[in-house]
Amino acid sequence: MYVPPMVVTNDDLAKLVDTSDEWITERTGIRQRRFSQGAPTWVLGREAALQAIENAGIEAGEIDMIIACSVTSDYCTPSLACMLQREIGAESAACWDMNAACSGFIFALDAAYRYLATGGASTILIVCSEVLSRITDFEDRSTCVLFGDGAGAVVVKKDEGRLFESCVRSQGKSGGALFARSGKFTSPFVKKEEIEKYDLFRENPGCHLVMEGREVYRFAVAAMPEMINNVCEKAGIPCGDLDWVIPHQANIRIIKTAAERLHIGMEKMVINLDRYGNTSCASIPMCLDELNRSGRLKRGARIALAGFGAGLTCGAIVLEW
Ligand code: UT7
Repeated sequence: MYVPPMVVTNDDLAKLVDTSDEWITERTGIRQRRFSQGAPTWVLGREAALQAIENAGIEAGEIDMIIACSVTSDYCTPSLACMLQREIGAESAACWDMNAACSGFIFALDAAYRYLATGGASTILIVCSEVLSRITDFEDRSTCVLFGDGAGAVVVKKDEGRLFESCVRSQGKSGGALFARSGKFTSPFVKKEEIEKYDLFRENPGCHLVMEGREVYRFAVAAMPEMINNVCEKAGIPCGDLDWVIPHQANIRIIKTAAERLHIGMEKMVINLDRYGNTSCASIPMCLDELNRSGRLKRGARIALAGFGAGLTCGAIVLEW
């Protein structure tokens, strides 16, 4: 994982909008987050990718696929994955981006597993990197206190560890609950009104991230336990036998509700949102790295990963480390 050095506390945000450390901590569990001081998404991604390669003990030249996930890519094209290839010198890799918002890591690992299983690739680098502060509206207290910047990366190989089951889902009809525009369409040949009539979310103009927090909350508290149950059931692993659960880090209340519904103790739920806020698709690989580096992740450990986010999307994976 990599996070930029600048720490922004709840008190810092209370100087910008009408909020308080008490409200943010009680309603979300977030105490601080990191914000980029100008480093773009590819830089955060590169730092995480280089560490993942070192930890895996491989050479960049061995990587035959890079899957990058982000909702804050620096360029429409080339892809973030191609930018990372150029930076790390993974010259044999086929590179592509995947956008499943906060569920990105789950969707990417699911895809990587399928490439490995069919022999389409043998060493895959997944990089999740977000600079959410570039799409955050720092005048909107209901969203600006939630997000942070960060990156997480993993190397996955065939025959090391084991993925038991994965499940990914989407609910496009609820897309308006959480969205950010990629930029305004303007053309000297088309009237503004013609363009605007196709804007699905025209009641909320602007280029920042917009969220209907309660709707996403309701979706998340239902989806997360359901998806974990689903993959565990298919894998024949009782939820109680899991060593760790790594949930997407959006709100501690969502995580506690999931733990209660699954009858899993909070000590098995991996948390980092208190320190980094919601880092979208980077949250799960960042937690995985912290858990691994702390020495608590033993070979053979059974881990469930679960994500949800814009799209709306959700997914879960149960694997053996
Ligand atoms: O990565 C996936 C994307 N996001 C999520 O998963 C987020 C899911 N949703 C949530 O986590 C929660 O819905 C939020 C944390 C976003 C909001 O918490 P909530 O308990 O659902 O609050 P609310 O939206 O129902 O707002 C309650 C009150 C409102 O005031 P009134 O109308 O009751 O007077 C808000 O205006 O809290 C107010 N409020 C705030 N007050 C102080 C909203 N944001 C703030 C704030 N500081 N930052």
